[in-house]
Amino acid sequence: MAATKVLVVDDDLNIQRVLVFTLKQEGFEVLVASDGQAGVEIARESKPDMILMDAAMPKLDGYAATQQIRASEEAGQRVPIIILTSEAEVAERVKGLRAGADDDIVKPFHPLELMARIKALLARSGALAAPITGETVTMGRLGVFYGAKGGVGTTTIAINSAIAMIREFRRRTALLDANLQFGDLRVFMDLGLDTASIVDAISEPDLDADLLRKLLVRHHTGVDLLLAPPSPEAADIVMERQRSHPASLTHLLNLMRRAYDYTLVDMVKTIDDFNLQLFDEADVIFVVMTADLSCLKNVRLVLETMDHLGYEKGKVQLVLNRSNAYTGINVSNAESALNRKVDYEVINEYRGAISSLNSGEPFMSSRPDGPLGRSVAEFARMVDEQTAAEVAATRT
Ligand SMILES: Nc1ncnc2c1ncn2[C@@H]1O[C@H](COP(=O)(O)OP(=O)(O)O)[C@@H](O)[C@H]1O
Ligand SMILES: [Mg+2]
Repeated sequence: MAATKVLVVDDDLNIQRVLVFTLKQEGFEVLVASDGQAGVEIARESKPDMILMDAAMPKLDGYAATQQIRASEEAGQRVPIIILTSEAEVAERVKGLRAGADDDIVKPFHPLELMARIKALLARSGALAAPITGETVTMGRLGVFYGAKGGVGTTTIAINSAIAMIREFRRRTALLDANLQFGDLRVFMDLGLDTASIVDAISEPDLDADLLRKLLVRHHTGVDLLLAPPSPEAADIVMERQRSHPASLTHLLNLMRRAYDYTLVDMVKTIDDFNLQLFDEADVIFVVMTADLSCLKNVRLVLETMDHLGYEKGKVQLVLNRSNAYTGINVSNAESALNRKVDYEVINEYRGAISSLNSGEPFMSSRPDGPLGRSVAEFARMVDEQTAAEVAATRT
């Protein structure tokens, strides 16, 4: 098989040298251009498999060069382009993606990170070429997981049921991390290298399906993730944007609905404007709880709040996690304290949960047939059955 051909476009000779060296070591064939104009020409003549494009260059900068390359491509042809930028600001990053790049990386970067990005992009450039623009109709379900208390297993259930939706039921599924300050999905799913996040998505005034696709990170299980901001401070940008332009969150969620059967959201227990909008937009709210007194008290308050918000019956569903753990309160005690039934139960399995947490590999991927995997898969099955029935009813 011919070696994969990578074109490096950069005016900085030092960076050129480092890139050429790293790429050749990895077995790539490397072409080099020292300015944007030359990059466009070589791209046209030599048809590389991938282009690394510096953003700031004399003559023609990387954005303009990317645009020219895209403009001259024939239908069905699309070379993956990674923009190398030294500006970490949101505006600049999105500019590169809008120009037609598929990914970007901020200088200085570690060669390992670059290689990881290159390989991820090459891997998906074939498979993902058909974009999430939605010619096919999706179920378009927005389900939010809301923990009545920290530590009850909200993130665990959100992640593993997303994987189950793909593995067991072949549903297109995305996960959105709405724990804006301390999102866990990056760590729980071992995605440390990726920096695109909900900040980029919600700040972009012209967000469309194509741009959104580039901001999502694909986990090897097939789940597409929109990650939380990389730093707690950046959470303010999202909150501020939601306050001033609530429609931008609606728009983002609608794009996701059009692209996925399930968009599942991992939420924390704060009740603020951002979370209230998520509740409103959701088709179903899974309140995750455990059977202990302080959690039951919180669930009661949450159910009251939801009542005041006037949500229809059935929109709010209770998920009792660690249902067989000994807490002195059993399921029927919990139900009579809440004066309603628990909709789903997930069993307690400390070892299964903790070992997958420490390995960064969700149990639905590493041990789907273990007790915990089967229990969450059963939850996902019940949800999918109900959803499919509801969707079918609205379409006839
Ligand atoms: N069903 C379960 N059985 C045993 N341990 C669980 C279960 N669900 C979650 N855990 C553990 O509980 C802890 C908190 O889970 P996490 O998903 O982070 O909760 P939350 O998102 O609600 O804060 C983690 O250590 C996780 O492994
Ligand atoms: Mg969590």
